[in-house]
Amino acid sequence: METNKQMNRNSLVAIAASSILGAIFCSSLAVAEPSAEKGKAVYEGAGACVTCHGASGAGDGPAGASLNPKPKNLAKGEFGLDTDGDGKLGTETDIFNVITNGAQKYGGSFMMVARPDLSEEDRKSLAKYILSLNKN
Ligand code: HEC
Repeated sequence: METNKQMNRNSLVAIAASSILGAIFCSSLAVAEPSAEKGKAVYEGAGACVTCHGASGAGDGPAGASLNPKPKNLAKGEFGLDTDGDGKLGTETDIFNVITNGAQKYGGSFMMVARPDLSEEDRKSLAKYILSLNKN
């Protein structure tokens, strides 16, 4: 038979344990949050997007100049592919899909290769970064 004191101690332990677990869960969520800043790092680093799309997204990277069709000016929001058929071009979902599956799947150039090797967080971050380039 538990005394009230023991029960209180048990419930305190339970509360402490669940708040520690909660804190760990929340901090791991925060780490996995996609952001434009992370997208910039991938764009210029592991994604190598910069080689074709250029530092500003204008499509003037060293490898982009000789491409036909040339990459569009992402900095001006010149998108051409509606990957989810919602009638809007260049939404965050469209950009994510083009990065994940490549442009050819949606009737675009095979030069825009699929990058499923990048983590989902990186691909979402890239989409946010590309949208942040569009300053018109
Ligand atoms: C080998 C050159 C090359 C590389 C590297 C490259 N792209 Fe592209 N990208 C293209 C070309 C070419 C197009 C134009 C495709 C078309 O319109 O048919 C394009 C189109 C796009 C589009 C526009 C899709 C639309 O709606 O018109 C986005 C967004 C994009 N690329 C993002 C990226 C990202 C992010 C990366 C890095 C992970 C990347 N690209 C790497 C060549 C490249």
